[in-house]
Amino acid sequence: MTADELKRAVARAALPHVVQGELLGVGTGSTANHFIDLLAEEQLQIAGAVASSEASATRLRGHGIPVLDLEEAIASGRGIPVYVDGADEIDPGLNLIKGGGGALTREKIVAAASECFVCIADQSKCVDQLGHFPLPLEVIPMALGLVSRELSRMGGLPAIRKGFVTDNGHAIIDVSGLRIADPVLFESELDHLAGVVCNGLFARRRADIALVSSADGVRTLRA
Ligand code: A5P
Repeated sequence: MTADELKRAVARAALPHVVQGELLGVGTGSTANHFIDLLAEEQLQIAGAVASSEASATRLRGHGIPVLDLEEAIASGRGIPVYVDGADEIDPGLNLIKGGGGALTREKIVAAASECFVCIADQSKCVDQLGHFPLPLEVIPMALGLVSRELSRMGGLPAIRKGFVTDNGHAIIDVSGLRIADPVLFESELDHLAGVVCNGLFARRRADIALVSSADGVRTLRA
């Protein structure tokens, strides 16, 4: 199977987790794009989607799926039973690195607002310990130098993502060279750096379920 076929297979495996008639949180990236396309192709009936990026909102609307702002969703009093999104790395405890597409902040917000986070990924994303994939941080532009210096002191190799602006108008620093032994602690430490809006560790709010595709099929991991 090609990488794209593995992404589509795992996106299809997420469809039974969608609660029809309710709101649905929808993530960002190439795997999430397959999920959005399948939602439309299979004509799943949802009350509306809460998207974690402008790109996903545009794709959803292109399929005629109604999109609500999170503020509208909260004001409606309806919950978001399920959030479906990809990941860049998954460890055995279902802690994640996300943000390869730069949408980490809105992804973390929609994940936090959802009752169940279903992560969809192919086997290549599974690791024993997080940190092989460069960890993205969304940073206020005036703090790029300061945050980079602090990250170097913490043992990382920071690189500013060139020519990239997030949906929130900020910059991204990708940090390589990290071996993340305690994801919950490290997520909190990074959150305390002045100028950091959000970091791509999803450990305090990790995935509840991970669907992982390989040539042998899709397996389900639970936290
Ligand atoms: C977007 O910012 C990311 O968090 C994506 O969810 C992650 O990079 C996975 O993307 P792919 O599905 O394209 O691998």
